[in-house]
Amino acid sequence: MKKISFTLNGEPVEIYAEPVEMLVDVLRDKLALTGTKIGCRAGDCGACTVIVNGRAVNSCLTPMGKVAGATVETIEGVGTPDHLHPVQQAMVDNGAVQCGFCFPGMVMSSKALLDQNPNPDSRAIRTALAGNICRCTGYTKIEEAVAHAAHQCCGKGGCHD
Ligand code: FES
Ligand code: FES
Repeated sequence: MKKISFTLNGEPVEIYAEPVEMLVDVLRDKLALTGTKIGCRAGDCGACTVIVNGRAVNSCLTPMGKVAGATVETIEGVGTPDHLHPVQQAMVDNGAVQCGFCFPGMVMSSKALLDQNPNPDSRAIRTALAGNICRCTGYTKIEEAVAHAAHQCCGKGGCHD
């Protein structure tokens, strides 16, 4: 075990973990942050998506050795029940919310996109969400919600808080 320091949802964290241990397991089992889900453990489903150093990543494929010194955001750090993040609010407003298994990852991928690109076009949104799999329904409402979060709906872009 090594002591690994990183920033998690804005707070400094120090934890003992094996460098080859996967971030998703540390989040869920050692830090009790179970909003990040485990689906395939193979980088295929996106249920485990978190943001590391500003980029959406599959935490099931992210060893703790790479997390040392990094900035990590999980769904627990995005919005609050009383003050949803604009992406979360747009998902609610557009009827795009899906199950608790796939949806945290979709929110994280969407947030990472808008953090990097406040005015994504349809292709950019689809590309950002391509790694987040749901076999239950379509993606149209989710794509619309991300566009609304960016205020593409009013043609101004990036005008929300
Ligand atoms: Fe990580 Fe499926 S659990 S991509
Ligand atoms: Fe969550 Fe389909 S996997 S709604």
